[in-house]
Amino acid sequence: MRDRRGQTLKRRAYDLLEVGGAEDGAARAVERVLVVLVVVNLVAVLLETVPEIGGRHALLFTAIEVGTAAVFAVEYAVRVWVATLHLPLARLSPTRARLTYMAGPGAIIDLLSFAPTVLGFALGFSDVNVLVVFRLLRFLKLARYSPGMHSLMTALRTERRALVATAVLMLGLILTAATLMYLIERHGQPERFGSIPLAMYWAVTTLTTVGYGDAVPLTAAGKLLAGATMLAGLCMFALPVGIIATAFSREIHTRDFVVTWGMVARVPIFQQLQAAEITEVTRLLRAQTVAAGGLIVRRGDPALAMYFIASGTVEVDVPGQAVRLGEGAFFGEMALLRKGRRSADVVAVTACRLMVLEAADLAMLTVRQPEIGAHIRAVAEARRRAAPRARGDLLPEELQSGERGRDEPDGRG
Ligand code: CMP
Repeated sequence: MRDRRGQTLKRRAYDLLEVGGAEDGAARAVERVLVVLVVVNLVAVLLETVPEIGGRHALLFTAIEVGTAAVFAVEYAVRVWVATLHLPLARLSPTRARLTYMAGPGAIIDLLSFAPTVLGFALGFSDVNVLVVFRLLRFLKLARYSPGMHSLMTALRTERRALVATAVLMLGLILTAATLMYLIERHGQPERFGSIPLAMYWAVTTLTTVGYGDAVPLTAAGKLLAGATMLAGLCMFALPVGIIATAFSREIHTRDFVVTWGMVARVPIFQQLQAAEITEVTRLLRAQTVAAGGLIVRRGDPALAMYFIASGTVEVDVPGQAVRLGEGAFFGEMALLRKGRRSADVVAVTACRLMVLEAADLAMLTVRQPEIGAHIRAVAEARRRAAPRARGDLLPEELQSGERGRDEPDGRG
């Protein structure tokens, strides 16, 4: 009995801290309290460094510091406790699930938000300002609660290769500009350009268009090189800014609606689930909007995901007929289940809001919820039988695999 109560408590704590969502008022309140705490703390850290304020209210600042560190420590402990409920970690042993969770970036940020303070007090630092850098790291906790920051992080992660390439280019440019300037100016101004590292300082301030003016070329050749370096700097900085801005806007666009608990609960196939299970499914789904007329699935393409319709209507272009699917229906499951290619085009008839389930998540879901897996397989089978196929409509892999549509004259066996 007590065990069951413990499980319920754990589930509730998990919902509050890790799931949230617009429907859960308590989760929203917890999130707001944590955000306010982070902001109050950051303001306190800044004000504490102003001698007149820091000296006069030392006790207040220490209380804020100790209070927030205590709250963050409890938050961290609870998050680690409920880590076993995370769907991707659910199949690991409790210890491994928790260790895996603790090694993640979010948990490390949480740990850094209180551990340095605890350590500081334990080691007897009377001046908590020593830990000011660590305390400012709490700023990163805000990223945990902001969907916009998530989008920015995803954009940076997606474009990391392009960004590394621009960084390499920039380094090459700094080295080239510094080496040339060293060769041109080293005799005239040995104190500023007497070595390549010294000249690199000039190159960095010039390429970043900062130009402190404390190291300037005096020869005509040096000035010519400086002009070219400034122009190259402008172009070079536009490159990563453009890459990040484009990726960020794309990311924001694909997340222009959020998959909510209520949306998932409306899908008939999920209606048999408990509230907490719907919460877990919600976390697996990604939002995607498609304008009317947009092609969502192309016949013959490899399959990466299946779709649930949150709103709108799509048309499945089954050879010889067009099948319309509306709110609550799903599609794209056939190719995923047989790890093959798409069997038909699917086009948005009206503007659609879709919930996307990636292949790996479908596999996980069917393990966790066998009845849902069986239902999806049954629908896929019925659709396969319903599709009337002419031989010419078969995909090459179907011809090879011996799946003979022509044996089913009207496709409705
Ligand atoms: P998939 O083959 O991955 O991509 C095209 C999708 O269209 C397919 O999965 C099904 O979800 C859907 N589909 C195919 N045939 C039918 C049908 N007869 N009725 C409804 N949906 C279908």
